[in-house]
Amino acid sequence: MPSPDPGNSWFGSLRILRFRRFELSPTRRRLRRGVSVADLRKIARRRLPRGVFDYIDGGAEDEITMRSNIQAFRDVTFKPRVLRDMSEVDTSSSLLGRPIPFPLVLAPTGFTRIADPAGELAVARAAGRAGIPYSLSTLGTRSIEEVAAAGPADLWFQLYVFKDRGLVMDLIDRASASGYEALCVTVDTAMLGKRERDVRRGFTLPPKLGLSTIFDGIVHPAWTWKFVTSDPIVFANLTGRTVGDGSEAISLGEYFSTGLDSGLDWEDIEWLRDRWAGPLVLKGIQTVADAVIAADRGVDAIALSNHGGRQLDSAPAPLGLLPRVADAVGGRTEIICDGGVRRGSDIVKALALGATACMAGRAYLYGLGAAGETGVDHVLDILASDMRRTMALIGCPTVKELDREYVDLGRGDRRL
Ligand SMILES: Cc1cc2nc3c(=O)[nH]c(=O)nc-3n(C[C@H](O)[C@H](O)[C@H](O)COP(=O)(O)O)c2cc1C
Repeated sequence: MPSPDPGNSWFGSLRILRFRRFELSPTRRRLRRGVSVADLRKIARRRLPRGVFDYIDGGAEDEITMRSNIQAFRDVTFKPRVLRDMSEVDTSSSLLGRPIPFPLVLAPTGFTRIADPAGELAVARAAGRAGIPYSLSTLGTRSIEEVAAAGPADLWFQLYVFKDRGLVMDLIDRASASGYEALCVTVDTAMLGKRERDVRRGFTLPPKLGLSTIFDGIVHPAWTWKFVTSDPIVFANLTGRTVGDGSEAISLGEYFSTGLDSGLDWEDIEWLRDRWAGPLVLKGIQTVADAVIAADRGVDAIALSNHGGRQLDSAPAPLGLLPRVADAVGGRTEIICDGGVRRGSDIVKALALGATACMAGRAYLYGLGAAGETGVDHVLDILASDMRRTMALIGCPTVKELDREYVDLGRGDRRL
């Protein structure tokens, strides 16, 4: 039989083909397709039951604010400088007096274990590996102590202020005893926003079994198996408390209106200031006027935030507020830009406009929903390497040197 002529047949074409090694781990196979946070969102959407995905992904009412948080970043373009030595690019910076390898804080998210049973422990470990802070939510599904024991992350505790001040004191004392660095008080929740995707579905935490949830569960067997074989999901910081720990299915709206103090005001912030020895962060500042009050009252950092568009719809995008807030209070309090961060270049834009750091919620939740703890690591790698690449491509080697000279506010400018 004649031997194939490699130079002149399809055998020759075969020689130039290089086959990718087959990845045995299904998680790693999945992550190969997750090149961006948007890709991970798509993967999470396929893997999670629809009600769970919508709880994470959705916002209030028409989701105008949720979308404009993202759009505000897209509207800002760069003014890249060239022919500067970019052989060394340093994304490190500092936040609340501590060094940070890249200026990102993982935002508090309630009920994190709904995305993956490893939940808050996975997020804390991933934050620890990346060297960035993680803020545990009051409505976390692992307790203050469990998260502190999980690993070496710089931890912040996010506080919702309950009417029961004894409970508030107890939470603060537990966070302090467990070595949490900062207290992050959320101030944009006088009432719970109307998250219509959840309302339409009658979504409760934990999800109540009904025909549609059962169907959702059947078509997402991997999630369902993990959900039914792991510990029940409850508000782990609140077990045994009068406010309820979520072991009875309840809508978040009901939970907020019965337990949380809608009478919260600036005097309560002073009260908290006196009781918490470490840095105090106010999360949910949405105007220059309130940023100024916070700075005057000696708050260590403000997070410009509309809760990821989950509270007041038509609230302003944090990035749009940033330049005016930085002009008014920059240098007196640190400014965190929270909401809409999906790329490392978004962090660069926020820093250039006066932020000390960014916070991100959904970005890491998509990673967690797509591939558990490895998915969170993957998102943090994407954001950190995006940030480094962007700094090199705009010709700015250090965070300290990032300023408005590097950005064009474009359409965002007209919105200010
Ligand atoms: C599923 C989910 C749960 C959240 N739970 C809380 C919470 O318990 N406390 C809080 O202060 N903010 C909470 N947030 C808001 C985040 O801390 C953060 O402000 C928001 O996610 C930022 O927008 P981004 O998702 O576009 O990054 C939650 C956000 C999401 C998506």
